[in-house]
Amino acid sequence: EKGGYDHYMRKEIHEQPESLRQTLAGRLDVDAGDVDLDVSFPPGFLADLEEIRIVACGTSYYAGRYAARLFEDLAGVRATVEIASEYEFGAGRTPDRTLVVAVTQSGETADTLGAVRRANAAGARTFAVTNTLGSTVTREVDGTAFIRAGPEIGVAATKTFASQVATLAMLAVAVGRDRGALGAADARSVLEDLRGLPGAVQQVLDEEEQVREAAREYGDGEAFFFVGRALGVPVALEGALKLKEISYDHAEGFAAGELKHGPLALVTPETPVLAVLTDGARADETMNNVTEAQTRGAPALGCVSAGDEYDTLDVSFEVPDVGVVEPLVANVYLQLFAYHVANDKGRAIDKPRNLAKSVTVE
Ligand code: M6R
Repeated sequence: EKGGYDHYMRKEIHEQPESLRQTLAGRLDVDAGDVDLDVSFPPGFLADLEEIRIVACGTSYYAGRYAARLFEDLAGVRATVEIASEYEFGAGRTPDRTLVVAVTQSGETADTLGAVRRANAAGARTFAVTNTLGSTVTREVDGTAFIRAGPEIGVAATKTFASQVATLAMLAVAVGRDRGALGAADARSVLEDLRGLPGAVQQVLDEEEQVREAAREYGDGEAFFFVGRALGVPVALEGALKLKEISYDHAEGFAAGELKHGPLALVTPETPVLAVLTDGARADETMNNVTEAQTRGAPALGCVSAGDEYDTLDVSFEVPDVGVVEPLVANVYLQLFAYHVANDKGRAIDKPRNLAKSVTVE
């Protein structure tokens, strides 16, 4: 049932080229610079839209953070992301001009359902991005886009994160095109990036041995810091969550620029730093912050765009050129790193202590 893999998590990491193909299948019209997500909004709603508010928890929240930047850049609409359990419809907001997007793999997360209910009560239009047909969230929202990643058994979300981001990126293009904020040529370039995503992820998976070695060499750190900028931030946060969840090691993700505002005090030769140094993640500036950590003796591992080079890195993972989804591809290295660190420690990877796949209490 695990298809020859020791753990569902590793199987699901390796399924990503195929699950992403399913996510994208029949939805990209690259030549026309458009997408078909089979979702409809009332006439004029998108044109008048003032704000997209994404609500989600855990990994889905990080997918939302990635997407918010895409909504702002591609769809020209203000986009905010809130941890679902913290979400309230504050004064000064305009419910009738707001789209609340719930991102939830299971469609059953109580915190996220609670946020959707508060949004509905405030009069906002609600939308779900989920993996699960017939899930509770689909019955509570005005519209749904399915991410089609297939069943995910491992408690740690992996392939569903990739498919969430890909689906939200398509939604951003659709909204941008509808609002006239995104020209056909720019849309085409994003869709080409998305079309290249499954192949790029496969190239990363082919480098698993390099990650296994890095995990063996650096996996005994006292703590692990993940950093990035722009689209690299949600990936850094997700990389840290994955590692802490399955290895029980202390891991934190930061916006790289924040290192010097506090966390740098924790950096020692025993705290490896993992950095997202790709296109879309302001790599050169991030590298400056990585250097600050290296000066304090920390080993540095980086996910670097193909063709770029940072000579001082201790380990450099190459990320194929796929534009706005490069940080998402870099994330696959971080998934593999978390997996191998946890596996070397003999952890219960598919069922980490204290955690459930679907959290149905608030
Ligand atoms: O089913 P959901 O996407 O709503 O779940 C949200 C979180 O509980 C989930 O992403 C959790 O953080 C994962 N175990 C992380 O790997």
